[in-house]
Amino acid sequence: MPDASPFLAVENLTKAFGGVRAVDSVSFTLAANEMRCVIGPNGCGKTTLFNLLTGYLPPTSGSIHFEGADIPGRPLYEIARAGIIRKFQVPSVFPGLTVDENLRIALAGKANPGKVGTGFPSGFAKREGRAERIHILERVRLDRHRHDVAGTLSHGQKQWLELALVLAGSPRLMLLDEPAAGMTRAEKQETIRLIRSVHDESGISALVIEHDMDFVEALECEVMVMMLGRVVASGSYAAMRDDPMVREAYLGNGHTGGGHG
Ligand SMILES: Nc1ncnc2c1ncn2[C@@H]1O[C@H](COP(=O)(O)OP(=O)(O)OP(=O)(O)O)[C@@H](O)[C@H]1O
Ligand SMILES: [Mg+2]
Repeated sequence: MPDASPFLAVENLTKAFGGVRAVDSVSFTLAANEMRCVIGPNGCGKTTLFNLLTGYLPPTSGSIHFEGADIPGRPLYEIARAGIIRKFQVPSVFPGLTVDENLRIALAGKANPGKVGTGFPSGFAKREGRAERIHILERVRLDRHRHDVAGTLSHGQKQWLELALVLAGSPRLMLLDEPAAGMTRAEKQETIRLIRSVHDESGISALVIEHDMDFVEALECEVMVMMLGRVVASGSYAAMRDDPMVREAYLGNGHTGGGHG
């Protein structure tokens, strides 16, 4: 008897930009409740993979099935409503609005997909969803900053606000593109705690792109290694760390400081 379809199934996924195969015949599955890190050198196709999974770009070929349904070809809001929600590599909060207002927009966007412009949709009163917003902000430890203007937050807090905006979308699969980029050591540790607690408490599946190998190790999840658009290895952090090919091509000789730059 065939197994039930996997939570996320990617098969022979390819995205070519001219002659460059940014994502090249990538196949993998992800189980419900699973978290996995995606690592690999700059330009190996990690963000492009996220762009394909979220419908931001159409694949050149190959397939993506999420909970049994085809992803490519569906409008962005439909994919988001199905529960695939991403955090971009570059923070994209509205800096002139408060933390709470940013969250109101995200929640309004969920209620009225495709209808959110620059203002608040009418009928989305301040009090509406207040408890939900406070709950989300507590989860990312920003509840005390609810009324702060987002532009005045520290870099780390802006990234946590991004995580709050992801949570506002009721994700079933969250895609986090370098959630700890540019953070201080303390902020990184807090981010690890946040991601782990969100994952452990809600069972939200996650793919996490990250260059910082200490961060990857601390997330304690499976690791998928990409190079030149391909998935070249996957397994535990320890197995990847000790894989000679991965060490040679990505980690360098013996250090675990990541491949950024
Ligand atoms: N929209 C695009 N048009 C043309 N080429 C692109 C586009 N997006 C990405 N590329 C190219 O595809 C390749 C993969 O880029 P991608 O951004 O996915 O890498 P990445 O692994 O996320 O890198 P980084 O670690 O630096 O964020 C690169 O060669 C990049 O220049
Ligand atoms: Mg990237």
